Amino acid sequence: MDIIGIGYLGFESTKLDEWRSYGPEVLGFQIGKSPEADAESLYFRIDDRRHRFAFHPGKVDRLAYIGWEARGKLEFEAAARRLREAGIEVTMGDAALRELRGVRDVFRFRDPVGYQHELFYGQKWMPRSFVPGRPHGGFVAGERGLGHLVVITPEFPPELEHFLTEVMGFHYYGAGAGKGKTAFYRSRLNDSTSHDIAYGHGPGKMGIQHVGLFVKNLRDVGETYDIVKQRKLPMMMTLGQHTQDPHVSFYHFSPGGFAIEVITELEPWHPDGFELNPEQLSTWGHELVGPILGPSVRTPEDVQDAEGLEVLAALARKRAAA
Ligand SMILES: [Fe+2]
Repeated sequence: MDIIGIGYLGFESTKLDEWRSYGPEVLGFQIGKSPEADAESLYFRIDDRRHRFAFHPGKVDRLAYIGWEARGKLEFEAAARRLREAGIEVTMGDAALRELRGVRDVFRFRDPVGYQHELFYGQKWMPRSFVPGRPHGGFVAGERGLGHLVVITPEFPPELEHFLTEVMGFHYYGAGAGKGKTAFYRSRLNDSTSHDIAYGHGPGKMGIQHVGLFVKNLRDVGETYDIVKQRKLPMMMTLGQHTQDPHVSFYHFSPGGFAIEVITELEPWHPDGFELNPEQLSTWGHELVGPILGPSVRTPEDVQDAEGLEVLAALARKRAAA
């Protein structure tokens, strides 16, 4: 599938008021205009796209959908065909959903463990329209997507790996440095970053673990770090540099209970000539000063809707029958 990367992310949240100040004041997000049909929700911009993050009122704080961006109409149509060929149910978006997402077209589908995905093309965009919520040098999103995310999966079945590499057409980027099973992937058209998504196996657990947000300048990593410390926001990992990416970053917890990794690139990432097997997570720093799994990672029952739980239940039935 000709996917560029993650175009947008959607969440449900009990803490919209906290997000409304945290987004602009800590991260430098711009508050976007909420669609008329969704006036209660909070939409954030980090570049010239209409929005990149949406927070909808909900009963729990959870990741609601992952919005993948197809390069255009033809790639979008081919992706829908590929999913259907693989036996995955594709629900085309209607005019109301297209309007909410601000896109030409969108469809929805589930991965084999029940996470809700969307694929879209042609999101509304206006050059030089992004105004950060506080003095900020800007985010590296543009043509490459908003960044990356790590989700925890209660099971890591072969169906999930097949879905990611064979159906979604992702490049497998390795297992990282962790002890448990984690797998990193990047979309086919992404030649700028090492991964768009990682699934980490956490038996019995589910939810978003962190979002990686790329800023243009080291100064913005440092200034965000200072603001996080001044506000005494919970930290997960101190400033450091990962072994497998030429990046400097730190992780702190957002109001949603998942971590935000604020990242800047020391040098552009280059395609890997061999599968990396790092001796350790980081070359320096990244001292773990908080839980690796924050309050956003709970049980599937806590963070999934009925449809998502049914996908997991179907997987369990298939296992039992085999
Ligand atoms: Fe990350």
